[in-house]
Amino acid sequence: MKLVRTVADLRATLSGAWDRGDTIGLVPTMGAFHDGHLALMGAAREECDLVVVSLFVNPSQFGPSEDLARYPRDEARDAALADLEQVDVLFVPVAGEIYPAGFDTWVEPGELGLILEGAIRPGHFRGVATICTKLFSLVRPTRAYFGRKDAQQLAVLKQLVGDLALPVEIRGCPTVRDADGLALSSRNVFLSPEERVVALNLPRALQAGAAAHAAGADAIAAARSLLDAERGLRVDYVALADLDGPTLAAAVQVGDTRLLDNVLLGRRG
Ligand code: PAJ
Repeated sequence: MKLVRTVADLRATLSGAWDRGDTIGLVPTMGAFHDGHLALMGAAREECDLVVVSLFVNPSQFGPSEDLARYPRDEARDAALADLEQVDVLFVPVAGEIYPAGFDTWVEPGELGLILEGAIRPGHFRGVATICTKLFSLVRPTRAYFGRKDAQQLAVLKQLVGDLALPVEIRGCPTVRDADGLALSSRNVFLSPEERVVALNLPRALQAGAAAHAAGADAIAAARSLLDAERGLRVDYVALADLDGPTLAAAVQVGDTRLLDNVLLGRRG
């Protein structure tokens, strides 16, 4: 695996693949790899000649009061894990490579970027859309891989590449969970053992919501009744939306940690 830190080196590294017309798979990440990230790399490895993973904690998608400073970082461990997944290129730019002095162009998603996470984190999807557009332009991937764990992000990016006719196929991959049902997240390391027990109510509530929906009942009410009964968490939202398919999505706050999860809803009856 080649570790690349600059745009110039990235271009030099990829030029042969571009010339040959190799298929390139891109997995954008912010690091602190877990099995969810590794599953995306595995999917890219199966489908593409060359696999590029980007590792960049993107400041523009964090609000001023959010956890940018405490976001977990361990580049050496991440590089070793990516190498095991047979990643070809790990792109780890410093912020100045992505946002050089004078950078002043942004990609602004519409309605889909303003609901749910977008309503709670103003500007979040503008930051995500801008960094992903820049990565697509830098890497010129055939396919880019994203997790359904962040279903709204996946939906925003599918809309983005459609609207702007970007020549990349967005692939959505299933959410990877721990054995107890909690969706893997880089932020799970912040949960104390007690908080983790509380957090398990999030996937349980979504499952209850999906079961209610399948039985013709109110998915949101079913999920909320479980979450509202748990005093150790605060609900940001529970909502139904078309996020690359009919989805029951929720966000909760457990202690200082914000957790997101969602389930795709099947047909009723
Ligand atoms: P990050 O949170 O590091 O996630 C990188 C990718 O891993 C995203 O596509 C995310 O949906 C996926 N992922 C995270 N947890 C997962 C899980 N449990 N199962 C499956 N996939 C999972 O999402 C971002 O970074 C950033 O917003 C980024 C797209 C890199 C732009 O900065």
